[in-house]
Amino acid sequence: MSNDEIVKKALGEIGAAGSSGELNDIRVKYLGKKGEITMLMKQMGTLAPEERPAFGQAVNAARGSVEQALLSAAEKIAQKEDAAKLAAERVDITLPGRAQALGALHPLTQVYYEIRDIFLSMGFDVNEGPEIELDQYNFEMLNIPKDHPARDMQDTFYVSDDVVLRTHTSPVQVRTMLGQKPPIRMVCPGRVFRTDDVDATHSPVFMQMEGLVVGKNIRFSDLKGTINTFIRNFYGEDVKTKFRPGFFPFTEPSAEVDVTCTVCGGKGCAACKGAGMIEVLGCGVVNPVVLQNCGLNPEEYSGFAFGMGIDRLANTKYGITDIRLLYENDARFLRQFV
Ligand code: PHE
Repeated sequence: MSNDEIVKKALGEIGAAGSSGELNDIRVKYLGKKGEITMLMKQMGTLAPEERPAFGQAVNAARGSVEQALLSAAEKIAQKEDAAKLAAERVDITLPGRAQALGALHPLTQVYYEIRDIFLSMGFDVNEGPEIELDQYNFEMLNIPKDHPARDMQDTFYVSDDVVLRTHTSPVQVRTMLGQKPPIRMVCPGRVFRTDDVDATHSPVFMQMEGLVVGKNIRFSDLKGTINTFIRNFYGEDVKTKFRPGFFPFTEPSAEVDVTCTVCGGKGCAACKGAGMIEVLGCGVVNPVVLQNCGLNPEEYSGFAFGMGIDRLANTKYGITDIRLLYENDARFLRQFV
């Protein structure tokens, strides 16, 4: 094959090449160690000396034009390949983003924080205690002896004869009085347990917030002022409270506190069973027996205590009529409180 024919063939192949890989194969085929043009050069030795310069020039020229063609084809193909790569990697910024599902605080937690913050703003501390509690702290030191009928007020899960799942957070009050000299001003939130069957108003586990104030000259009027301030802060200024006589072994006198029904505003409805008011907490002046049990001299100190169900407060505030909604974690219900 003549120089010209080889060059023509090479240029044809170069023109048809579609990728840099193919171009490389063509380069090897013509210009590589055993390439067709390289092999032409090797024929030089067989020629007469006077023919060699012209032959050399011709082969070099052929080599040059193939190299040139390879170069410009490589450039074009690189551009094409770049463009294809860019197109393939293109990000469609018009696609909507993937939404992150946001979590939120459970309504009970929200209400707990709200109650806690009101008491914090009145200068109360927040104390916590164990959920598995000594019978002694849960009952006996609170003036509820073993076999006393008052135990019937709270149906108890017994772990053993001496250990119970706490039925209220009052044992935290006992622990506080045992460990701290008055003045004491604290609330004790937490989970409590009673052997109640689940229904719209009962749950074997629920949340309580109790409180205790002990100092010199603490009176029932201090209790009333504190509770009224709390209730107005929590429910709103126009909510009324009613203190009714009540009984708790650990307070004397004791009271139960009703507030204006938030569903009907006091007119009477199904939620308040026509009464216009709903009971939300128990309270009283700390029984001197309890102070004494906890090593405080009732001649020197007096105090008041109160306790409420956080669930009950959440229900009355938001008009929730079934306590189970608070524990079933149905997202359709919970989403309303985000
Ligand atoms: N411990 C009582 C209960 O759980 C509530 C309470 C606390 C009542 C303090 C009066 C004083 O029912």
